[in-house]
Amino acid sequence: MAKWATLAAAAAVVASSNGIPSVPVRGVDSKTVELPLVGIGTWLQNSTVAEAAVREAFQNGYRHVDTAFVYKNQDGVGRALKSVPLAVGLRREDYWVTSKIPPGNNASTVRQYLDTCLRDLQLDYVDLMLIHYNDPNISTKAQRQEQWKEMEKWAKDGKARALGVSHYCREHVEDILEVATVPIAVNQVQYHVGMGPSGRRANDDKEWMKTKGILYESFSPLCGPCDPPHNMELVNGSLVTSIGNKYGKSGPQVALKWLAQQGIPVIPRSAEKEHMQENADLFSWQLSEADMAALTKADSPAVAGGPSGEDSGDCPAHTENFVV
Ligand SMILES: *[C@@H]1O[C@H](CO)[C@@H](O)[C@H](O)[C@H]1NC(C)=O
Ligand SMILES: *[C@@H]1O[C@H](CO)[C@@H](O)[C@H](O)[C@H]1NC(C)=O
Ligand SMILES: *[C@@H]1O[C@H](CO)[C@@H](O)[C@H](O)[C@H]1NC(C)=O
Ligand SMILES: *[C@@H]1O[C@H](CO)[C@@H](O)[C@H](O)[C@H]1NC(C)=O
Repeated sequence: MAKWATLAAAAAVVASSNGIPSVPVRGVDSKTVELPLVGIGTWLQNSTVAEAAVREAFQNGYRHVDTAFVYKNQDGVGRALKSVPLAVGLRREDYWVTSKIPPGNNASTVRQYLDTCLRDLQLDYVDLMLIHYNDPNISTKAQRQEQWKEMEKWAKDGKARALGVSHYCREHVEDILEVATVPIAVNQVQYHVGMGPSGRRANDDKEWMKTKGILYESFSPLCGPCDPPHNMELVNGSLVTSIGNKYGKSGPQVALKWLAQQGIPVIPRSAEKEHMQENADLFSWQLSEADMAALTKADSPAVAGGPSGEDSGDCPAHTENFVV
């Protein structure tokens, strides 16, 4: 396990040909797979918008897209992936696709979700398939285990190169570890500047994940879902802006770089070429140790979407202890 924790650390980041480095994660059948540190996120985009965004992103050096069954845009993402990678000379093995399925009640429902994702994406396999979240009404321990086991069978048929979870904290992961024969490669959760000092219920047991060799991946890296004015804090707020000025970089670049420099993959959403290019331009410069420390110390903006700034709401989403 320690070996994998080390592998997933920033030090192991390797440069790829398109300038976006990747981090190794634990794949199916003990193979290591390389997850690009920047991807294009598609949450809240409909199929039309997602298709255009993925096209633009892949024409501008992106090699990684993140989608999900519940985003209802996988057909649009699929249409973009059908043409653009080929047009820019990419083989399927040159880019990364992450999808996610909702918590299903039983193996046959899970299988339907999985197959629908591939069909809509028009792909033979995804690089990473995640269990998207826990539904407090149906996510029992038994359900999590049944879902994971079905995902493993599907992955071992060549349909996914790695498996993982999203919105999971320690107790959910432990349920799966009891039955897993395929590694949990990734836990994708909300993480951004402002959350460095928060505790486990906001950070989904970040440090514990590392000891289990599970790569921590960030969604909402700019705190898009934060309530105003906090949703602008990592865009034009004084901390990221003043640090950015020293490097000739923007506030969002500083906020994203803080994550990428820790070896944490980011999937910012954007529909505009300029922002996409900016969001991927993170690897020809380094934040100083002092600036990294200042960003890690920042306690605002706090986690968004949970019952409080100290609680993402992910841990309690557990039938046995769910509190509304
Ligand atoms: C998709 O979203 C865009 C932007 O919000 C909107 O203009 C468009 O009408 C939507 N398309 C569909 C089919 O809903
Ligand atoms: C699985 O769940 C679906 C949806 O709730 C249900 O229709 C189906 O009968 C279940 N299958 C089994 C084998 O329990
Ligand atoms: C759980 O069930 C309750 C009662 O039916 C419903 O109001 C709530 O929206 C459900 N929660 C989720 C996450 O589906
Ligand atoms: C940041 O941008 C928002 C929206 O454009 C604006 O309302 C706010 O005043 C700006 N804040 C700063 C510090 O410039």
